[in-house]
Amino acid sequence: MKISNGANKPRILSGTQPSGKLHIGNYLGALKNFVALQSSGKYECFFMVADYHSVTEDYAPAEKRQQIINLTLDFLAAGLDPKISTIFLQSLVPEHLELAWIFDTVTPVAELERMTQYKDKANRQEKNINAGLFTYPVLQAADILIYKPQAVPVGSDQLQHLEITNTIGRKFNRRFGPTFQETKPLLTATPKVMSLSEPAKKMSKSEPAGCVYLTDEPEEILHKIKRAVTDTAPGKDKTPGVANLFTLLSEFGSAEDIKRFEAAHLNGTIRYAELKEILATRIAEHFADFREERKKLAKDPDKIIKLLKTDSAKAEKLAAKTLAEVKQKIGLAF
Ligand code: TRP
Repeated sequence: MKISNGANKPRILSGTQPSGKLHIGNYLGALKNFVALQSSGKYECFFMVADYHSVTEDYAPAEKRQQIINLTLDFLAAGLDPKISTIFLQSLVPEHLELAWIFDTVTPVAELERMTQYKDKANRQEKNINAGLFTYPVLQAADILIYKPQAVPVGSDQLQHLEITNTIGRKFNRRFGPTFQETKPLLTATPKVMSLSEPAKKMSKSEPAGCVYLTDEPEEILHKIKRAVTDTAPGKDKTPGVANLFTLLSEFGSAEDIKRFEAAHLNGTIRYAELKEILATRIAEHFADFREERKKLAKDPDKIIKLLKTDSAKAEKLAAKTLAEVKQKIGLAF
């Protein structure tokens, strides 16, 4: 059975939490893909700043507004275009929460207990294992299904959340009649970027020394890359730190850079200092326009908030339609 969302192009939606600054791992894992999907012209795109999700983690209320602005600046400076995509703020579309409550009533507690991200976060913030952390995937299911999208571009860490989204949709359909279609993950092959300082771990904002942020100036990039862990003497196999630098070179370097350093590695003449310098230069070049554009946009934060409000109103039109349909189906339409 096909359930139409009324749009001509397939609709996609994704969400990102506004918390720390974005680093190159976040960029390669998500944002770069968002921009490519938008630019393909094949989709009707919704990109959401998931502020309600972000308040399930420890945070400082005085910082949240700036974090929301920062993420939106990152989106825009990287090339997401509000003329093409809808770039909106979750908390300005309260219909998501209403649908989440309704979804709560069809979601088995046992399914939520299986979520690995919940278990990880509960371990990380033992003093703040709040119910929001537990029902987080239900809100995510509402974020998604309220727009009836065909696909959701996410990293593989979100696959479990997409599975439960479809489980919730099916449970709703079974109980109240066909309403939601299956939503597919839109995974792209994205490299796993490791921490520069501890290359056995993923690059993560919880360990800033190992991150290159999109906003880092060329000197900072060079400083961090220079200090990246490699190995003492070039060996036949790449150590995790060296492999990580090559991963980054394959993303940001030229074909010539890649060829040259792979060959130097093979014949044992590689000089890591040289590799690091080229890599730092290439990363700095890659984000030069981004840095400039972001600085321009950052001068007018009110304009960013205004944009989020305008686009949230657009999103709300669609969300309200689905919510009305859902309330009708569950017997709460007045
Ligand atoms: N849980 C997602 C993450 O941590 C963020 C998110 C919230 C999301 N709502 C969403 C992603 C809806 C995709 C669709 O990355």
